[in-house]
Amino acid sequence: MKRWVLITGCSSGIGRALVAACREAGWGVVATARQMSSLEDLPPGDDLRVLAMDVTDEASIESARLACLDIPLKALINNAGYGQMGPLELLRPDELRAQFETNVIGLHAVTRAFLPLIRHHAARGEGRIVCIASVLGRLSIPMCGAYNASKHAVVAYAESLRLEIGRDIPVILVEPGAIQTEFRSTLMKAWGDLPTRVLGTPYHHALETYRSQRERFAEEHGMPANACAARILKAMSAACPPRRVIVGFDSRGAQLLHRVIPAGLFEWALRRLYGV
Ligand SMILES: NC(=O)c1ccc[n+]([C@@H]2O[C@H](COP(=O)([O-])OP(=O)(O)OC[C@H]3O[C@@H](n4cnc5c(N)ncnc54)[C@H](OP(=O)(O)O)[C@@H]3O)[C@@H](O)[C@H]2O)c1
Repeated sequence: MKRWVLITGCSSGIGRALVAACREAGWGVVATARQMSSLEDLPPGDDLRVLAMDVTDEASIESARLACLDIPLKALINNAGYGQMGPLELLRPDELRAQFETNVIGLHAVTRAFLPLIRHHAARGEGRIVCIASVLGRLSIPMCGAYNASKHAVVAYAESLRLEIGRDIPVILVEPGAIQTEFRSTLMKAWGDLPTRVLGTPYHHALETYRSQRERFAEEHGMPANACAARILKAMSAACPPRRVIVGFDSRGAQLLHRVIPAGLFEWALRRLYGV
């Protein structure tokens, strides 16, 4: 293979869909996940390398980097991430820290590890760094402060990185709305004892409304993961890649409304929607 892309978080969802899409488009793919067992069902081939990588574990990032020294790595897709829900008033600092460790610090650690390899193998303008943020990196919703903050940080990170290296290696920021993946079931695993913590607080109702709203919306209107992967691949393959890729009518619509309607009205609508 002449060009390889490394993707984080390939056990499910967008990462998993990207593996198939990139391979079909002729890329060699380094598919990474925390548990190797979660990658076992990927069809083997000369165009696939599977590696264990936890983005919060520097040693596993370094092992993965060493295992990529013999391939022409030209692109990185920073996809791994999860959502930590919960009202900020009840959120433990450790929960916020863990959210940033994965979604922000982990993304940075991986980028920093693989950027020199991409620089080495890609001609000017040929390499790609893709960062998966979210519509919640551009606007915020209640009950989701930790995740909102982490994705706003990813937006700022990608914009800063682009200013610094973008002429050599284009940086593409992806801002999806609701995508049909494991995201929402993982979200409930990351809740821990939150459901009992909110009992008897004014947030009890809002959290339940949040959970059912988001689940229903994603089921009814969410974009399939492979359609999202196709959008990302198209942007990555473009000769002159876009700076931002807004994925989904919900992401586009919410960002437009956020820009054009008065802030007070926007807040009122969100509070009503989420029962705060
Ligand atoms: N689905 C949506 O509606 C949506 C919308 C906007 C943005 N996004 C973003 O899209 C990205 C992919 O999410 P998804 O929707 O595809 O959800 P998903 O199906 O839950 O996939 C998330 C992936 O990230 C991995 N991951 C989590 N923590 C990790 C860590 N410390 N190290 C390495 N991998 C880790 C998970 O691996 P494990 O199996 O090991 O946990 C999984 O492979 C995330 O950054 C998410 O924030 C999703």
